[in-house]
Amino acid sequence: MRSRRVHVYFLPSLVEPPHLAGTTSVVIDVLRATTTIVHALAAGATQVIPCLEVETAKRMAQTISQSVLGGERQGMRISGFDLGNSPAEYTRESVGGKTVIMTTTNGTRALLHCHQAKQVLVAAFTNFSAICDMLGSSDDVAIVCAGTNQEITREDVLLAGAITSELFRDRQEWEINDQAMLATDAWHKMQAEISSPAALMRPLRESFGGRNLIDIGQERDIEIAATIDKFHLVPIFNVAQGCVRLR
Ligand code: MLT
Repeated sequence: MRSRRVHVYFLPSLVEPPHLAGTTSVVIDVLRATTTIVHALAAGATQVIPCLEVETAKRMAQTISQSVLGGERQGMRISGFDLGNSPAEYTRESVGGKTVIMTTTNGTRALLHCHQAKQVLVAAFTNFSAICDMLGSSDDVAIVCAGTNQEITREDVLLAGAITSELFRDRQEWEINDQAMLATDAWHKMQAEISSPAALMRPLRESFGGRNLIDIGQERDIEIAATIDKFHLVPIFNVAQGCVRLR
């Protein structure tokens, strides 16, 4: 039996970019950047361009026709931007046929951190099964959680664990790191505690990111982010072109 490898990193800072070379990297920021990217592309955005800095995003918007600026700082829409970071804002009316130029505090940063990977996928609970299907043929998987301001976040770890649990179903031999074991354990423990997929709301609400959203009045986004398999699509970050598109 061939051996495959899946490593989980609870924060981008726990893996140096060169260590991601040759991997299929999966970037997770459940609350909310990766959930929002999935929504934007599902709503018909042609591409999402992740930027590190607000000023870079603004400059880029001036060079791309049919573009909208989206993202957040401290969870709130950035001054001069068209959209914030709530997945609910990314509708056919607001982004259909357009390029979304996006900067968020942690999520877009995590994506750009993976620039040396062979392939970079964008994962959320909303596209969970599509991600797992695509990883079925990958031998070397690195799951990179965005976290929040250098803090590990439960919602990202839970999704990392949900993905690893699904991969391990194939009964092949996997080489894994301890963070992958911890994430898998966390997901299994949660599965034993919750009665239905809708119950994922509770741990997401209790998480650091969830509490932040409740504090700023954006609680509705937690429900959106907890909707497993709302879409069957995989956004892929094309590093050379600097954009995320559907495959
Ligand atoms: C981020 O990228 O830091 C998050 O998505 C923050 C947020 O929830 O808006």
